[in-house]
Amino acid sequence: MVYENLIYEKQGHVALITLNRPKALNALNDVLLTELADAVEMVAADEDVRVAVITGAGKAFAAGADIDYMKDFNPIQAQSYMEQGQGLYRRIEKVRKPFIAAINGFALGGGCELTLACDIRIASTKAKIGLPEVGLGIFPGFGGTQRMPRLIGDGLAKELIFTTRQVNGQEAKEMGLVNQVVEPEELINTAMAMANVIASKAPIAVGLAKDTINRGRQVDIDDAMSIEAANDCLAFSTEDQKEGMHAFVEKRSPVFKNK
Ligand code: HXC
Repeated sequence: MVYENLIYEKQGHVALITLNRPKALNALNDVLLTELADAVEMVAADEDVRVAVITGAGKAFAAGADIDYMKDFNPIQAQSYMEQGQGLYRRIEKVRKPFIAAINGFALGGGCELTLACDIRIASTKAKIGLPEVGLGIFPGFGGTQRMPRLIGDGLAKELIFTTRQVNGQEAKEMGLVNQVVEPEELINTAMAMANVIASKAPIAVGLAKDTINRGRQVDIDDAMSIEAANDCLAFSTEDQKEGMHAFVEKRSPVFKNK
């Protein structure tokens, strides 16, 4: 698939998605959001793809929603844009495959919010992460007001949203905003290595674990336990469960088939 603002590559069982509009710091205009939505559906539909890594070309991961594109929006147009962004990011959460954000540089506004919708975040020491929206007269509208507090707590999230302060990779690690911080030249290798570890595990079980964690968050603990039990019972219906446990008993490595 050839895209205008995106590169989609497959390396083994891992899809590497590169936001590629570097002249505008990968600002998320309609074209880029539409192409990213298409790429996410490719990840969802391709049985061979078990994990996706999202990164940015150039010095940004993504510097946010496209300010030039939305500067004269009326509220109806703003709502449609927010539905596009929110819908896409929610879809990333619902696809039963892990998405890893490899944050190479600026991840601001909608770019930061995209990383928050991913399952795992790895930052380069050059990353600059923040939510600058209140400096533009709006506030985060691609899910940031909901996902940032869930990740780092209300106090820190409010500080970042109200002040627009950008944090670097190291500080992001210290506040639990990213899982890991690495040197820029190590970023893609680190993300791909983690993706390959995940891809070597039973894919349906990994997907069900993601679904269980995400859905369990939204309900009380008893309903969450029911979701856990139902999904884990579903795992027992897979060939990979038989393979995983028989391989253990037979003292050999399992070979998972995503079945
Ligand atoms: C459109 C953008 C952009 C953006 C950068 N560019 N960010 N265009 N939307 N979000 C463009 C610049 O206009 C410029 O184009 C080119 O990319 C390079 O950017 P510079 O500003 O020249 O680079 P630099 O001086 O290095 O500064 C980098 C920066 C700055 C600190 C990241 O670009 C910046 O502050 N960008 C805006 C970040 C932001 O506010 N994001 C939140 C958006 S609101 P030209 O043509 O001049 O070369 C949002 C809300 C989402 O995301 C949800 C609600 C709908």
